[in-house]
Amino acid sequence: MRSKGIESYKALVAQRREQLRIQFPKLLPRDESFVWEIGCGHGHFLTAYAAAHPQEPCIGIDISPERVARAERKQVRAGLRNLHFILADADDFLAALPRGRRASAIFMLFPDPWPKRRHHKNRLVKPEFLAAAAAAAEKGAPLYFRTDYEPYFAEARLLVGGAPAWRLLPQTLLPLEEPTVFQRRAPRHFTLVAARR
Ligand SMILES: C[S@@+](CC[C@H](N)C(=O)[O-])C[C@H]1O[C@@H](n2cnc3c(N)ncnc32)[C@H](O)[C@@H]1O
Repeated sequence: MRSKGIESYKALVAQRREQLRIQFPKLLPRDESFVWEIGCGHGHFLTAYAAAHPQEPCIGIDISPERVARAERKQVRAGLRNLHFILADADDFLAALPRGRRASAIFMLFPDPWPKRRHHKNRLVKPEFLAAAAAAAEKGAPLYFRTDYEPYFAEARLLVGGAPAWRLLPQTLLPLEEPTVFQRRAPRHFTLVAARR
């Protein structure tokens, strides 16, 4: 019974990744770099970033259909052709990304903090994720991580600092400061910046 459940979950993941493989050539027709936001929510940050950097393809992903739909409405209203929002999980996105398409910058702004210990395994920042994200990033590409949950910040700093493919940088500012929905609600926040070695 349990193995049937695992098999159908694996089939679902394979199907999601296949759909992403079909989508990629439409998003990025050539081998080119792109700015990637993971957990883009309603798309405030990436819409502002894409407007300020019209030559850079920007892709925001989120696993919430409602949030992606809101972000897409922003893209349509702004008429930004270099901006795409898609419904995708971060691991699926990395698994389906074609060789040759590489992230020139990665943003993770207020990722779900999963404060309970038994839920820490659900956090996005993990050694395997950092290795896979580095493999999909250009040399020198910055990784921006911002959270209002200090224990997650401390853990992310340790993990990123210990990841062979990333080098922590002293800066704490994003290249563009556009508060996200969660940033507006947060009394304070913590930022780490790293560069792909
Ligand atoms: C706390 S919200 C922050 C949203 C936005 N970045 C902001 O600051 O307003 C975290 C977002 O990450 C998304 N998310 C969680 N796990 C994800 C995953 N594995 N892949 C992509 N998005 C994910 C959630 O659906 C949610 O929209």
